[in-house]
Amino acid sequence: MNTRVRNSLLSLHRWTGFTVGLVIVLMALTGAAIMYRPQLEPLLSPDLLTVPACSGLVPLDALTAAAAAVRPAAKLDYIRLVAGDAADAGTDARMPAAMVRFTDQTFVYLNPCNGEVLGQRHRYGGLLGTIEQIHRFRFMKNGNLITGTSAIVFGLVLILAGLYIWLPATLRGVRSALKFNGRLKGPARTINLHKTVGFYVSLILLTSVLTGLPQAFDWYKNGIYTIAGSAPAAKAPKSQPAAGAQRLSMEAMWQRAQEYMPHPQEILLHYPDKPRDAVEMYLIANDAPHPNARTMLYLDAYSGKTLKYIPYADSSLGSKLYFWTLSLHTGHIGGPVVQLLLMAAALSVPFLAYTGIATWLRRRKRATATRRLRVRVARKINEAEGIWAFELVDPKGRALPRFSAGAHIDVYLRNGLVRQYSLCNDPGESHRYLICVQLEQASRGGSRAMHENIKEGHVIEIGIPKNRFAVDPTARRSVLIAGGIGVTPILCMAEHLAGLNADFEMHYCTRTRQRTAFLNRIKKAVYADRVTFHFSDRLAQPRRDFMGLIGNFESGTHLYVCGPAGFVNMAIDAARQRGWPDRNVHKEYFSAEMVKAENDTGFDIKLASTGKVLHVAKGKSVLEVLSDCGVDIPRSCEQGVCGTCMTRVLAGVPDHRDVYLSDEERIRNDRFIPCCSRARSDMLVLDL
Ligand code: FES
Repeated sequence: MNTRVRNSLLSLHRWTGFTVGLVIVLMALTGAAIMYRPQLEPLLSPDLLTVPACSGLVPLDALTAAAAAVRPAAKLDYIRLVAGDAADAGTDARMPAAMVRFTDQTFVYLNPCNGEVLGQRHRYGGLLGTIEQIHRFRFMKNGNLITGTSAIVFGLVLILAGLYIWLPATLRGVRSALKFNGRLKGPARTINLHKTVGFYVSLILLTSVLTGLPQAFDWYKNGIYTIAGSAPAAKAPKSQPAAGAQRLSMEAMWQRAQEYMPHPQEILLHYPDKPRDAVEMYLIANDAPHPNARTMLYLDAYSGKTLKYIPYADSSLGSKLYFWTLSLHTGHIGGPVVQLLLMAAALSVPFLAYTGIATWLRRRKRATATRRLRVRVARKINEAEGIWAFELVDPKGRALPRFSAGAHIDVYLRNGLVRQYSLCNDPGESHRYLICVQLEQASRGGSRAMHENIKEGHVIEIGIPKNRFAVDPTARRSVLIAGGIGVTPILCMAEHLAGLNADFEMHYCTRTRQRTAFLNRIKKAVYADRVTFHFSDRLAQPRRDFMGLIGNFESGTHLYVCGPAGFVNMAIDAARQRGWPDRNVHKEYFSAEMVKAENDTGFDIKLASTGKVLHVAKGKSVLEVLSDCGVDIPRSCEQGVCGTCMTRVLAGVPDHRDVYLSDEERIRNDRFIPCCSRARSDMLVLDL
């Protein structure tokens, strides 16, 4: 599929979900709750909705009179009887109460065996009635327009666009997209669940939407008749009252109806309102295919003469289709299996909303994290021997995104390399970023390009600041140790802590005074008395005495170390010997230590998406092998420092050789750094 079309559809799918999603989630949850309303309601209100079974019923007019006596000012609408089983009479069995409905949608429930009034309740009264009211949005004016419109948008845009996006390009892709991949973890698992569950329930949800719409829109209902080639339901015929004639009793009408259908499962008779109105009723036969398979009967209210009789079997295709949609929507077709499917599909809507939103938030976070900024090099300052500082500002003078002490930015170089540099100005400043770059003797192009190619006035691209080396705001005291150019985040931390008037000390270790960046800035700083410089050219023993620098651990104290890998590792060893817990020791490497590779062996990697297996020979990195076969993943330092290339591991045991992952992340073994790490097992299955 064309990427632009796919992205447009994805946007449409997403924003439709955001706009109508809440209404749909509410409708789905309430729809699932009322799926079993006919079965549950008699259990919840047995004394109102059921009576002990009997064989003889009192005349309908007695029931009508009893109901009208309870609500004398209300206007009668209809009376409905549901048959019990005559064989149950005299047993403990119960049968449905008779219902007289008034035009204000209130029901009076009566015992059809003796005419006793059991109570009254509004159509949307009681727990399940209230839930149905929410389902139909009948708590607000024109609620059916909201539910109907949301359902159309949901069905035609969200589901269909979702299915179109889901559709893989190949048959093999379709087969794998139909299966849930249990080996996936984290975000990959979330999106896999969204897609597989979404596919399976989409057809059920679409059916539910299409069968619910006739209740919201007359044009949709009429459309069903038109599609079926049937004339819309005709107007009810009229009674022909002779002068001075009196209406017959409802009981007489009921007797007439029984001439057509002696023992209906259900009968509903409308009370005529105007003088010429007929008595309109529907009957449901015992062998009806579904609860809305209505046999219609119109009787002259004065003579009892049949004006129109339409057995269900003879009703038009449009009428059958319309009532069939009603029953299907409420789960009354197909028995418990269909009810369960409808309920499962309805309950999956909030799940799909959750997995969809979680995926979107993750993508958004990633997009934000990889967003690039264009900045101008306002100043390039020679900070020390082989070290240049670059002051970066917005080309139009706008404020730059905020950052915190310890943060770094990606710098995108014109030779295609990406390098990370810590920000070393005051985090309170928003008009500039300051980075400092030392020319590495073994430069692989990054520091050399910065030194030689970037000039004042150049506009370069950078990423927004990220921080994996943040200062703990709860620290009672902080110890900062910088090795060489590792001073950049440490300097930022020192200025931040000084601004807070926090208790800290800083140790700055370099080879010589000439190679010490920011020497004058630190000496002039208000916190200068808290900084100790350590120049190794003055040491008789070139190895640093970290045991002397790092005192015994005191509760609430945090240690921050930044420098080359060897320097940082020695500092951490010393801290451990001094009793520092790992959670109080924070580190950042600006270059990795070389790992001896003579004992390396080859191993295989498998790409989970395609099942392709690739061999990683000794002397080759996983990143190189992936790149050679056309799988390009983001990369930057290629030394295991920045974490840009981090990849999920679905199976196998990595041999971690990076300095990016934390100890906990290494123990979990569910991700690794392919630019430098290898495998302890024969194969690694990668989430690629
Ligand atoms: Fe930096 Fe792999 S590219 S850790």
